[in-house]
Amino acid sequence: MNEQTPTVTMEKIVSLARRRGFVFPSSEIYGGLSGCWDYGPLGIELKRNVKQAWWSAMVQERDDMVGIESSILMHPKVWVASGHLKGFSDPLVECKSCHQRFRVDELAGPKCSACGGEFTEERQFNLMFKTFIGPVEDGSNVIYLRPETAQGMFVNFDNILQSTRRKVPFGIAQQGKSFRNEITTGNFIFRSREFEQMEIEYFVKPGTDEKWFEFWLNERLQWYVKYGIKREHLSILEHEKAKLAHYAKRVCDITFQYPMGWEEIEGIANRTNFDLKQHAEASGKVLDYYDDETKEHYIPYVIEPSAGVDRSLLAFMCDAYAEEPDKDETRVIMHFHPSLAPVKAAILPLSKKGNLSNFTRDIYKNLRTTLATQYDDTQSIGRRYRRQDEIGTPYCITVDFQSLEDNRVTVRERDSMGQIRIPIIELKKTLEAKIAGEDFLVLPPGGEVVQSKGKEA
Ligand code: GAP
Repeated sequence: MNEQTPTVTMEKIVSLARRRGFVFPSSEIYGGLSGCWDYGPLGIELKRNVKQAWWSAMVQERDDMVGIESSILMHPKVWVASGHLKGFSDPLVECKSCHQRFRVDELAGPKCSACGGEFTEERQFNLMFKTFIGPVEDGSNVIYLRPETAQGMFVNFDNILQSTRRKVPFGIAQQGKSFRNEITTGNFIFRSREFEQMEIEYFVKPGTDEKWFEFWLNERLQWYVKYGIKREHLSILEHEKAKLAHYAKRVCDITFQYPMGWEEIEGIANRTNFDLKQHAEASGKVLDYYDDETKEHYIPYVIEPSAGVDRSLLAFMCDAYAEEPDKDETRVIMHFHPSLAPVKAAILPLSKKGNLSNFTRDIYKNLRTTLATQYDDTQSIGRRYRRQDEIGTPYCITVDFQSLEDNRVTVRERDSMGQIRIPIIELKKTLEAKIAGEDFLVLPPGGEVVQSKGKEA
């Protein structure tokens, strides 16, 4: 991965994201919609890969986890029981002259930063989006877009217990959209009004909760590092005991050093048995657990690692970004972990001539059945390499006239710029092995090293 990157700024990330089709402002032709973003062709691949990396590690590869996908619209009583209707708010003031609204904790001074006007008294502003269910728009039909995916897991606790016969400790995981009518948005996709979360509710026996908190904190830190975040760009911010919400026993933020400073990427909370207790009381249903070894009933405690998809993606982009001098220009490289890279391989024929072109397209068609692959036959090979480096493609495959005779192609690695020449029949298997972590210079039968690392023309 790249060395320390003081060169990365939010402007550069935003510009690359837009130029190469990672992220665009929402409804841009109408001037954009504040706090909303559209993921472009490369952005959606990156986002799906981030979510898949999380799902594999947190659900697929664990015996103690199951996944669900609950609906975004939920019964309004959910938000009464969870406390969101009453308390999910930020303190707000309004400028008496220009009527701009600000979050109190983000005020630059005692007067409006836009016009110098006086502020109104502080009041609480609920962040939940309201809408109506069904064709009648009256108060009895008001419902909310969920502000977190978590409640969908609490209300399904008993369904999961009954249908999967899980034993405590076990967890439920969910990924999906959440909506918050944030007073102020900003820093690109860092704080939006529509965003995605990846959340776990991990149910444990009371008394074992502190141990499990440590476990998840460590597990989640390691996940970010495994996929390319530098450990020194991650930190743990312990919330002060005195300022915790009444139901929380301990909360830590995992913070990341974004270009604008250290900010939360994920929260880990010990939510005690608050949510299950609240929903049991409000719904009249029993939401406890019977431990058939100790013959006791109890309401499990919950450890909640709650991550933002968009904030993770932004962090992966920031730590992947690097610039290198390249003749008179600057070469931008995104050193994405191969599993996260939106495009895994680019197929580059050295000529557009008929038989080479058809030959190369056949290789391309075969590769793309399992690997996200791009075909590019425009401009010089050097320029094509640069274009792929800029979007973080880990492997480029060049096909030349010699390939027609020896059925071998050259594979170039993004980070080392080393090159190996290998039989086409070994190509797919070799790329899959390298993406899974095999050293680039390990060769399949019939392969040879062309250059172990270096600069191409
Ligand atoms: N269920 C707990 C919960 O939702 P949170 O700290 O409010 O906790 C968890 O949110 C994560 O969701 C945050 O760490 C962040 O990554 C992401 N997130 C929260 N609000 C966001 C916003 N407005 N825009 C983008 N991501 C957001």
